[in-house]
Amino acid sequence: MLFWVVTALALGAYFFVYSTYVRRKAFRGTVKLHGKTVIVTGSNTGIGKATALDLAKRGARVILACRSKQRAEAALQEIRRESGNNEVIFMQLDLGSLKSIRSFAENFLKSEPRLDLLINNAAVVCAPGRTEDGLGMILGVNHIGPFLLTNLLLDRLKECAPSRVVNVASYMHEFGEIDFNCINRHKCLGLGTSTLDITKIYSHSKLCNVLFTHELAQRLKGTNVTCYSLHPGSVATELDRNSKDSWYVFIFRPIFRNMFMTDPMSGAQTTLYCALQEGIEPLSGRYFSNCTLTEVKQKAKDDIVARKLWEVSERLCGMA
Ligand SMILES: NC(=O)c1ccc[n+]([C@@H]2O[C@H](COP(=O)([O-])OP(=O)(O)OC[C@H]3O[C@@H](n4cnc5c(N)ncnc54)[C@H](OP(=O)(O)O)[C@@H]3O)[C@@H](O)[C@H]2O)c1
Ligand SMILES: *[C@@H]1O[C@H](CO)[C@@H](O)[C@H](O)[C@H]1NC(C)=O
Ligand SMILES: *[C@@H]1O[C@H](CO)[C@@H](O)[C@H](O)[C@H]1NC(C)=O
Repeated sequence: MLFWVVTALALGAYFFVYSTYVRRKAFRGTVKLHGKTVIVTGSNTGIGKATALDLAKRGARVILACRSKQRAEAALQEIRRESGNNEVIFMQLDLGSLKSIRSFAENFLKSEPRLDLLINNAAVVCAPGRTEDGLGMILGVNHIGPFLLTNLLLDRLKECAPSRVVNVASYMHEFGEIDFNCINRHKCLGLGTSTLDITKIYSHSKLCNVLFTHELAQRLKGTNVTCYSLHPGSVATELDRNSKDSWYVFIFRPIFRNMFMTDPMSGAQTTLYCALQEGIEPLSGRYFSNCTLTEVKQKAKDDIVARKLWEVSERLCGMA
């Protein structure tokens, strides 16, 4: 008897937690994208691939901007097959290399006349080491790379306005801080190699995404190009693939994934909302979660910090 009561309570509690904290709203817009061109970075897997698939189904010309040709080709075939859209194209982009970003942009601008949507989705979590240019890997791939890429493509976005930039950030930005000393001295957002250090550095990089979006919106005023940042939810993807913590890998992850995470397609919904929802242009620069405008803390919308981060980023990617 007690057993059944406990089981029923546990199920009830789980159902409550699931429907309140895990389940997410779907984007219901029916916008079609024939004649539009979109770039999705890191679209060979996870949330990026789900986003690219949805956009392809809507008829867009979809550029898969990925670092591995082999991984991207597999996704490309799958997306073409599932969407019935053959205008899905791979273009090589390694966000851990400023040279690769510049050559991607050059290549893209030469071969593609339009750009309607840029979705900065790619990121790394457990990535030690440095990029080709000596930046901390997480700073380089998660912030400086997308920063340079966006700037190189801005003129084309302006020519094709109304157009949008969507930056996939994370709820984790709330735990982030920007230490300009560390950036200046070590070209890194933080030091250390423990799981805790790396989680912190990842959070800092996601705060960079939110601040970058804030400042970008200021700079884009009057252009009809708008931008948004977002949290996709807790999504079972390959993001934690490099984790070596065996407690996490063998115990927590399997339980967590199945019970408290959503699938990549539901993780793509807020990205799609920011990319396609009509009438959100006055909210340019803001942050969204669960397909809903969400207020951020002062540190994530501080004009002075955002401007300083922009200037430091220009220097780090050789734009200034
Ligand atoms: N999953 C979550 O619960 C969660 C929560 C909050 C925020 N997010 C954010 O959602 C976004 C998508 O993450 P995900 O969960 O879908 O992760 P994922 O499955 O690991 O996908 C990440 C993508 O980024 C690509 N990437 C990594 N390094 C790159 C580089 N140097 N150059 C180009 N592409 C690179 C990966 O390519 P490879 O396959 O070649 O490595 C992969 O395509 C990220 O911005 C992440 O921070 C995710
Ligand atoms: C998302 O919004 C839906 C509908 O408003 C709500 O039921 C759900 O609890 C929300 N999910 C999260 C994680 O906030
Ligand atoms: C922005 O869009 C509005 C409304 O479509 C248009 O009137 C205006 O000229 C556009 N501005 C620019 C700079 O393209």
